[in-house]
Amino acid sequence: MQTDIESVLISEEEVQRRVRELGRQITNDYAGRNLLLLGVLKGAVVFLVDLARAIDLPLQIDFMAVSSYGVSTKSSGVVRILKDLDSAVDGRDILVVEDIIDTGLTLKYILENLAMRNPASVKVCALLVKEKSRPEGIGADYVGFHIPNRFVVGYGLDYAELYRNLPYIGILRQA
Ligand code: IMP
Ligand code: MG
Repeated sequence: MQTDIESVLISEEEVQRRVRELGRQITNDYAGRNLLLLGVLKGAVVFLVDLARAIDLPLQIDFMAVSSYGVSTKSSGVVRILKDLDSAVDGRDILVVEDIIDTGLTLKYILENLAMRNPASVKVCALLVKEKSRPEGIGADYVGFHIPNRFVVGYGLDYAELYRNLPYIGILRQA
């Protein structure tokens, strides 16, 4: 499988070090709050389980699954909720955990949807943010790494549902 990877963009050690840093920062910022980590399935799962263990606070975990309409590889911004979260949002301090922000349109939809449900606060923690790719989208409050505009896989990110289990972030070899 490793032969499909052109190069390692972020090593396992770098990822783990940065996740621990983010966990410490979130621990400081959310002390005494009512923290709900909201993972966006499926890409954010690997990041979320490591991040949750790096946060030294009482917290709850929930998940949402969304899908863009259409088959285009470009994000349309029209999003369908495939699985809603189980928890009540009302009064919670929600930290949306995302794998990667490209256009930011998926996230924009999720944030607008959550805002209507009266949470105490909503912030975003994204492992990766692609450079110069958010014309009308939304940024993140916590960012693991800013990366160039390449298609990456690993640590939860997939190509055709594969490579999510790589412990590093890699650039996929072009077919
Ligand atoms: P956005 O609405 O354009 O921000 O779409 C973000 C979603 O597209 C992410 O949650 C990923 O599922 C997917 N995505 C965007 N860029 C990549 C990439 O480089 N590798 C894998 N998935 C990606
Ligand atoms: Mg995906």
